[in-house]
Amino acid sequence: MTDKQLTELHRMAALGRLLAGVVHEVSTPAAAILSNNQVLMKSLEKLEAAFGESPDAPGVARAKKIVGAIKPLAAVDRIACERIAAIVRSLKTVARTGDPELHKIDLNENIESALKLTQADFHRRIEVETEFGKLPEVECHPHLLSQVFLNLLMNAGQAIEGTGKIKVTTRLDGAEVVISIADTGHGIRDEDKEKVLNRGFTTKPVGEGTGLGLSIVKQIVTKGHCGTIGFESEAGKGTTFHVRIPVEQKKKGA
Ligand SMILES: Nc1ncnc2c1ncn2[C@@H]1O[C@H](COP(=O)(O)OP(=O)(O)OP(=O)(O)O)[C@@H](O)[C@H]1O
Ligand SMILES: [Mg+2]
Repeated sequence: MTDKQLTELHRMAALGRLLAGVVHEVSTPAAAILSNNQVLMKSLEKLEAAFGESPDAPGVARAKKIVGAIKPLAAVDRIACERIAAIVRSLKTVARTGDPELHKIDLNENIESALKLTQADFHRRIEVETEFGKLPEVECHPHLLSQVFLNLLMNAGQAIEGTGKIKVTTRLDGAEVVISIADTGHGIRDEDKEKVLNRGFTTKPVGEGTGLGLSIVKQIVTKGHCGTIGFESEAGKGTTFHVRIPVEQKKKGA
């Protein structure tokens, strides 16, 4: 590994730790706002009920108007805050580092979380379609697999110039789960096909790509989960990456 790549890895690890801290700092106030908002909404409803009891009392008509103006604002606040909470939840799965335990999880949910994080980036530019098969719970390192899906989705998004489409499919194939991410991007040239999984190979300008993404993906899938990764691609048409993960990890020594 070159010094530049090492520096980049170090930067990513530092960013990961920073992110975990930010996630924690943001989720606490967001939860507080959300719970205050519930109290606020209930109080407004109580006020409205009280107005109903004495509709002709002085000032009630004006107070009703004011409450009528506050209610929709509070409702918008709740939606905005729920969005913050959802994004923070998604970030949590990615930011969680250093958990050596295997967990049994719903992989479709894990992919949904990764997709949420790309929303702002893909917004209006890329249409995302999902076709999730019914999957058993998969034994895996969830935060590492989130990183796999995020890297593949980001590559897919970066391969699409202007507008395009990404389709994510999951299915069960015997004792393995197959996740496919297909994009309508520029594709991979034949002469690059055997190099794209190599550490440090990139066709992106300096500052935009380090060429580490797919090598990390390969490492996590093959070494981390005894899975496989493959792709098919046609220049000018698009690329589909396929990740296969065993439903259960072999027990050590078995
Ligand atoms: N979906 C894809 N469509 C077309 N080319 C791709 C796709 N995914 C990867 N590639 C090619 O493989 C190269 C290596 O990808 P990789 O994710 O390892 O690094 P990167 O995206 O260039 O940089 P980084 O991921 O570190 O930001 C890319 O530069 C690109 O040329
Ligand atoms: Mg990449």
